[in-house]
Amino acid sequence: MAAWRGMAAAGGVVGVRHYHPNGDPPRILITGSLGQLGTGLAKLLREKYGTKNVIMSDIVKPTKDIVNSGPYVFADILDFKCLQEIVVTYRIDWLVHFSALLSAIGEQNVPLAIRVNIEGLHNVMELSKQYNLRVFVPSTIGAFGPTSPRNPTPNITIQRPRTIYGVSKVHGELLGEYYHHRFGLDFRCLRFPGVISSDTQPGGGTTDYAVQIFHDAMEGREFECYLRPTTRLPMMYIDDCLRSLWEMLVAPSEKLRQRTYNVTAMSFTPEEVVAAVRQHFPDLHVTYRPDSRQNIADTWPEVFDDSEARRDWGWQHHYDLKAMCTIMFDNLRRQNQQEQQQLHLQSAR
Ligand SMILES: NC(=O)c1ccc[n+]([C@@H]2O[C@H](COP(=O)([O-])OP(=O)(O)OC[C@H]3O[C@@H](n4cnc5c(N)ncnc54)[C@H](O)[C@@H]3O)[C@@H](O)[C@H]2O)c1
Repeated sequence: MAAWRGMAAAGGVVGVRHYHPNGDPPRILITGSLGQLGTGLAKLLREKYGTKNVIMSDIVKPTKDIVNSGPYVFADILDFKCLQEIVVTYRIDWLVHFSALLSAIGEQNVPLAIRVNIEGLHNVMELSKQYNLRVFVPSTIGAFGPTSPRNPTPNITIQRPRTIYGVSKVHGELLGEYYHHRFGLDFRCLRFPGVISSDTQPGGGTTDYAVQIFHDAMEGREFECYLRPTTRLPMMYIDDCLRSLWEMLVAPSEKLRQRTYNVTAMSFTPEEVVAAVRQHFPDLHVTYRPDSRQNIADTWPEVFDDSEARRDWGWQHHYDLKAMCTIMFDNLRRQNQQEQQQLHLQSAR
C-alpha cells in the first residue's frame, strides 16, 4: 500500500484531507464502535472521509439512528474470519480497535477480559499485518501501576499494572510495537486518561464518576462518589480525545519517535470537579462512599506527562476543567430539550 499524504495538524496544514495518493479517501473500520468513544469518532471521521468510508461495527444491536447514520456491521473481534470478511468486502485501509472490557468491568470477569482484550487484540494485530492496515489501538492511564511514578507519569517508565485491563493494555502496546519493528506494521497507540462525554454512557471504567456528576447535577440528584474527595486522576474532554486520535492517525511516520504516546488535558480530584460543577449548580449535594474502584485509582497516574506527544506531533488540548463544565452542561441541556420535543411529538400523534 502506498504511503498516505498524512500531515499532523501541528506540523502540517489543519483541514487538509489525508487521502490516498490515487485520490481515494481511506476506508476505515471501527471495532467496538457503540461504546463511549466510537459513535463520536465515526462522526468525526465521516465528516473528513465521507460517510460510506467509515464502517462502524460491534456485537451490540444498533439503534435506528446508528443504522441511518452510515454503514454498520456485526463484528465479533473473537471471530477472525468475520473480521477478515469485513476487511476484504469493504476494502479497509485503516482499523481503529475500540473493543475492550474496561477496568472495573474487567475485574468482575477476568476470563472474559482476557478473551476480549488479549485474544481479540491478537486477531486484530494479525489481520492488520496480513492486510497491511494502519491500526490504532488505544491504551490508558490504567497501563501503569503502583510502582510507576505517579506525578508526573512519563511516556516511558515502569509499567506493572494491577488490573487485568492494565495488563492487557501493556500487552497491546508491546505487541503493537513488536509488530511494527518486526513486520513494519503501521501501529499507532495513545494512552488516554479518563474521557468525559455527554451523549454516551461510560463503559465501566474507574473514571466514570467524572461523567456521572454532570448527569446527577442536571437531574437535581444527589451525587454519590465512589472515590475519595482527594483522588487525583488525569482526564480529557471527548472532543480533545477524538481529535488527538485523528491527529495521531494522520501524523507522518517520520514524526513519530514513539508508537505509543501519553495524551491528556487536565488532572483533577472529585472535590475539584464538585467545586467546578457547583459554579453551575450551587445546590449539588455530594456524598463520598469509596468502593473497590478506589483501590484501582490509587495505583494510577495522578498527573500524566504528555510532553512527548506535544513535542513530536504537536498535541494541544483545548478544554480545561472550566471549559469542559460549560460545554458539558450546554450539551446536556440541548439533549434534554430534544428529548422533551420528541416526547411532545409522540404524545401529539
Ligand atoms: N472511555 C475512556 O475513558 C477510555 C480511557 C482510556 C482508554 N479507553 C479505551 O478506548 C477504547 C474504547 O473505550 P470506550 O470507553 O468506548 O469503551 P466501551 O466499554 O464504552 O465500549 C467498548 C465496546 O466494545 C464492544 N465489545 C465488547 N466485546 C466485544 C467483542 N467480542 N467484539 C466486538 N466488540 C466488543 C462493546 O459492545 C462496547 O460497545 C477501549 O479500548 C478503552 O480501553 C477508553
